[in-house]
Amino acid sequence: MIEISSSTLAIPETGDVPRHVAIIMDGNGRWATRRMLPRTAGHVRGVQAVRRIVEACGHRGVRYLTLFAFSSENWRRPAEEVSLLMRLFVRTLEKEVDRLEAQGVCLRVVGDLSAFDPHLRGLIEAAERRTAGQSALTLTIAANYGGRWDILQATRALLADRPDLAAHPEALDEAALTPWLAMAYAPEPDLFIRTGGEQRISNFLIWQLAYTELYFTDCWWPDFDAAQLDRAFTWYRGRERRFGRTSDQLRGAV
Ligand code: FPP
Repeated sequence: MIEISSSTLAIPETGDVPRHVAIIMDGNGRWATRRMLPRTAGHVRGVQAVRRIVEACGHRGVRYLTLFAFSSENWRRPAEEVSLLMRLFVRTLEKEVDRLEAQGVCLRVVGDLSAFDPHLRGLIEAAERRTAGQSALTLTIAANYGGRWDILQATRALLADRPDLAAHPEALDEAALTPWLAMAYAPEPDLFIRTGGEQRISNFLIWQLAYTELYFTDCWWPDFDAAQLDRAFTWYRGRERRFGRTSDQLRGAV
């Protein structure tokens, strides 16, 4: 059992291998454009990278892998690209669920799924049910997800459950809110990776990334592979995770 604790309320356990890796898979469009291909070809290649990284994380002992597949803001893209991404999502769920189950992967999808068509929602539910008993790696796909959406939906759910809080706002604390966040089942990410050269969080897990180590690489997502992942892990091992303490405290000098 992995202990789920808040990095701001207690010092989480850490190790050489991150327990939870969260990735923004950026650069699909540029990968394709550079090859004179339509942007959508980059997303198709991106699915191959997803397969590689799920497998590599499993082999390295990562327990949670969270991938940002579609943000609440991605609806602003051209309709044709949005539609391709949805079809890719459907096709990938249909094709990959057997392989995920065989690899011991438990699949979860987080985000505002009410915006998706009922067929896709049905496939998501079936894939989650089918892999629910697996525990080697929990793969979370964030789809129509936004960090602000998550904090708001959690707050609404908490207030619906605890109407007394409206009269006693001082009782509203982290411990009360976090069980309602979409990823309450996972520890906070140890390592965040963003491919594609940009250095921003883009409304990903903004609550959960409070003390996460942030790694940015110029590598485009379709080119990201196990060797690139190992490079990120080597960088991670070199970080001093202080969680607000001093280096001297960590070395036991104080
Ligand atoms: C960002 O690259 C990528 C996305 C918005 C979609 C990511 C989707 C996949 C990797 C494939 C589907 C995944 C699953 C799990 C089925 P971008 O288009 O913003 O690239 P750019 O910055 O070069 O334009």
